[in-house]
Amino acid sequence: TGDTLPLKSHVSFPLGVCAMTAQVNDPQWASLIATHFDRITPEWEMKMEYILQPDGSLRFDAPDRIVAQARLNGQSVLGHTLIWYAQDGDYFQQLKADRRDFETAYRTYIRQVMSHYKGQVDGWDVVNEAIRDDGSDLRDCLWREVLGEAYIDIAYRAAHEADPACPLILNDYNLEYYPAKRKRFLKLVEGLQKRGVPLNVLGTQTHIAADLSKGAITETLRDLAATGLKIHLSELDVSLKEAAKNALDFRNYRDAQRALYEEVAEAYTALPTAQQFGLTLWGLRDEDSWYNRQNKGMVADEPLLFDDAGRLKPVGQAFVKAL
Ligand code: XIL
Repeated sequence: TGDTLPLKSHVSFPLGVCAMTAQVNDPQWASLIATHFDRITPEWEMKMEYILQPDGSLRFDAPDRIVAQARLNGQSVLGHTLIWYAQDGDYFQQLKADRRDFETAYRTYIRQVMSHYKGQVDGWDVVNEAIRDDGSDLRDCLWREVLGEAYIDIAYRAAHEADPACPLILNDYNLEYYPAKRKRFLKLVEGLQKRGVPLNVLGTQTHIAADLSKGAITETLRDLAATGLKIHLSELDVSLKEAAKNALDFRNYRDAQRALYEEVAEAYTALPTAQQFGLTLWGLRDEDSWYNRQNKGMVADEPLLFDDAGRLKPVGQAFVKAL
């Protein structure tokens, strides 16, 4: 039947999933990933927190393993992520007193990491989560503190210099929850475009809870697509537990979850084909979800499409049908 076909065969855009090296040795995970997906995003090991050491040296062992595995499977890789407010690292903290040294190190980090993966990735999340949730401004972070708002322009220009052919992505979350945040995000995009900053793709993470109001996803994708840029639906999951008011009623949200997955599928496939950069799920089986890693020992959340036995769940079948 149709639902046993590889998921990727249902879509004309790249279908992705995130991965950690620890999962690569799990045979069930590895075979499902190879069957169903076109593209892999390292979930953690391509972030600054992993790559950059306090002395400024770089380690690429784990992310290289993910890239090698993807190549064996004939899959592509998305780089995630170069500059993130949440990870600044001891190395940069030590340089913060001297703006010029700091800026040199900042450009160098971007250049070295991008050069290492040049020709091996489909795109890079250059700046991740730049906007405050209330939409009032850019977030405060070390990068902004030392380099000013220009930290974003500098990052994209440095990235483009390092690998001119690589699609450069601006990624953020909660864009469907907070219209003011979405507006500020789009204002940032407009500024970047006016200043001729190289930016090719907008990423909307889409970590949503099952009680998100209907229509929010559709409206968000439409607003982002109005920029003319490509759109990456970059970290999709739909949490039951984030919607539940108490620990026991979360299973009541399964129908709402299914409706949201269907809305995502319909709204994304309705975008102009040329703007469909791809859709990435933030995990394969429920046990792989970051939600369940954060809440070890508690009742498991069920935010993803496959169950722990590696079977496509009813919500997964509904999603595929709506694609
Ligand atoms: C999360 C990963 O899933 C976790 O395993 C890790 O410990 C922390 O980061 N937005 C992002 C992702 O851009 O990088 C985050 O991933 C989830 C939220």
